[in-house]
Amino acid sequence: MFLRIIQDIALMSGIGILLALVMVIAQRWLSNYGELNININSKKDLTVTGGNSLLSSLSEKQIFIPSACGGRGTCGACKCKVIEGGGPLLPTEKPLLSKAEIEDHIRLACQVKIKSDIKIEIPESIFNIKRFHSEIEEIIDYTYDIKGITFKLLNGETIDFKAGQYIQLETQPYGKVKQSVVRAYSISSKPELKDRIQLIIRLVPEGICTTWVHNYLKVGDKVNFTGPYGDFYIRDTNADIIFVAGGSGQAPIKSMLEHLKEVGTDRKMSFFFGARTTKDLYLTEEMLAFEKHFNDFHYIPVLSHPEPDENWQGRIGFVMPYFKEAIRDPKNTEAYLCGSPGMIAGVTKSLVEEYSLDKDKIYYDSFG
Ligand SMILES: Cc1cc2nc3c(=O)[nH]c(=O)nc-3n(C[C@H](O)[C@H](O)[C@H](O)COP(=O)(O)OP(=O)(O)OC[C@H]3O[C@@H](n4cnc5c(N)ncnc54)[C@H](O)[C@@H]3O)c2cc1C
Ligand code: FES
Repeated sequence: MFLRIIQDIALMSGIGILLALVMVIAQRWLSNYGELNININSKKDLTVTGGNSLLSSLSEKQIFIPSACGGRGTCGACKCKVIEGGGPLLPTEKPLLSKAEIEDHIRLACQVKIKSDIKIEIPESIFNIKRFHSEIEEIIDYTYDIKGITFKLLNGETIDFKAGQYIQLETQPYGKVKQSVVRAYSISSKPELKDRIQLIIRLVPEGICTTWVHNYLKVGDKVNFTGPYGDFYIRDTNADIIFVAGGSGQAPIKSMLEHLKEVGTDRKMSFFFGARTTKDLYLTEEMLAFEKHFNDFHYIPVLSHPEPDENWQGRIGFVMPYFKEAIRDPKNTEAYLCGSPGMIAGVTKSLVEEYSLDKDKIYYDSFG
């Protein structure tokens, strides 16, 4: 009897192992798509190994589609037109695509898997995005959770970008994190400086990239990034400007102000910086120096939760009520916003509904 039970268990285990083996072999066989072709803009053909995402297949061929969320399907930055061979639209793509985009065959490159030859269209400007190799030159503690990091480009490389654009940093494995991830960071240095860039990075508790940057990265380390990306840059007009930022959102605004200092401007400009307490203020001296340099620039920090012992004499609360100090002609005012999605939504609503700014003159980079 006992022997019979042992025999039955052995038989069942054997069948289980055999089935698992068949499944693994079938899966390998089914997902072996061989070499496939990506046709870009009816001009360029690339041979890639099938089965990977369109985003990673292009990146292997040094074509870098913006992917601010690192391919997690949450940012929508990787939209591109798939004319043929993209397969059905996936549920992970729908929330980030409008009806018009779906009708226009727009897809998320990070979600589309290459399972057959594929035909796509991407803007020509994407071909200017490159991978850069750099060495960490300087790390500054701006606040208890914000660091400024300078990346010096290696091999005589130089970078061309517009003030306000961002790069995508490639992390290295550390501690228990075994994989490299990609995250977006706005360049905080001026575009006139071409052989190095500075980033301003706020620590996100348990964040993969920011923990690496804050706790592991050191001067002399070699780091790769791609860029430049994005359409958050100063429009070349004479309109008055309102800058609004919170936390590390000050990064692209710093780059824009440094660039405007280089090229010169008489535009009326106000920078509203929202922070919790005085401990979250940084680059204050630089902002006061800009006030002295420009004809009409005002730096306006606003604290939401000043501590009683800080003896804060400045503005308190949300930034929105203070915009009235800065807006003289709403139809001739542009706004440049940078920070959390919540801040950007609230400020945009206020600028349009309370201050009558044109929505299409409000430019932003959302760090969400
Ligand atoms: C265009 C663009 C430009 C950006 N520029 C900058 C910049 O200049 N400086 C900068 O510090 N960041 C910037 N970011 C944000 C940055 O890309 C990362 O999202 C952020 O640093 C967190 O990365 P992580 O890997 O440490 O966290 P993750 O491992 O991605 O996230 C860990 C957890 O924290 C949450 N989380 C992610 N980001 C935040 C956040 N910002 N605040 C609160 N919770 C969060 C996630 O939902 C998750 O639960 C930018 C983002 C975009 C899209
Ligand atoms: S990379 Fe963010 S949605 Fe595709």
